[in-house]
Amino acid sequence: MRVGILGSGLMGGKLGTLFARAGHDVVFSYARHKDKLAQLARESKGNARAGTPREAAQDADVVLLAVHWSRIDDVLAQAGDLSGKVIVSCSLPLNVLNTELVVGRTSSGAEELAKKVAESRVVCAFNTVPSEVLFNVFEARRKTTKPSLVYCGDDAGSKKIAAELISDVGFDPLDVGPLQTARYTEPFALLVAQIAYEGSSGPELAYRFERFGK
Ligand SMILES: NC(=O)c1ccc[n+]([C@@H]2O[C@H](COP(=O)([O-])OP(=O)(O)OC[C@H]3O[C@@H](n4cnc5c(N)ncnc54)[C@H](OP(=O)(O)O)[C@@H]3O)[C@@H](O)[C@H]2O)c1
Repeated sequence: MRVGILGSGLMGGKLGTLFARAGHDVVFSYARHKDKLAQLARESKGNARAGTPREAAQDADVVLLAVHWSRIDDVLAQAGDLSGKVIVSCSLPLNVLNTELVVGRTSSGAEELAKKVAESRVVCAFNTVPSEVLFNVFEARRKTTKPSLVYCGDDAGSKKIAAELISDVGFDPLDVGPLQTARYTEPFALLVAQIAYEGSSGPELAYRFERFGK
């Protein structure tokens, strides 16, 4: 797939690198310095290049949105028309200090994002894991037991694409329903961050859901 990365920081930089290593065609965009994007493209050792948000989005089969919530409007404006595009968003609707969700209970960041993009095909994924686990999970991707990664969305085709990307980086994709479910997964992401960063064992946290009674 052609994957456009909007936001090439901890999440976008690492996921873009892994998508390229998994064989996808990646364009890194949106960082404060262009050199960083070129460096990410070089170091991914896959089919990757640096570009503007518009270049990352225009021919992409799927875009990964990985910016702080405060940068969403700016990156969307720079990306141009995303109507009908598959948007996989790992952005959480956090305040500037990253301590609290600024959307919740009756909506979610993912749903608010979907309202901003005409004919949106938003999937909420990748935001419930600390970025520190991504390379280790990718390295272990051929093991039979993989950590779960939840995703939700309203469009079946987009969810299929997101599930493929989730598998390609080594997780077991777990469909948790419509985009509205992000009202539960976004607070869950904060719980994961609390366990990962405020616990004693560090951020190397990847979890697995099991069903009992079947
Ligand atoms: N990190 C995690 O473990 C994690 C886990 C779950 C969810 N999330 C969510 O994922 C999203 C991205 O998180 P992150 O940790 O990847 O953030 P990050 O490392 O800060 O990356 C954000 C990207 O946006 C770029 N950026 C910021 N301001 C900019 C500006 N004015 N102009 C151009 N580019 C700009 C940054 O540029 P630079 O590269 O130059 O800094 C960086 O590439 C957030 O919504 C976060 O809540 C993160």
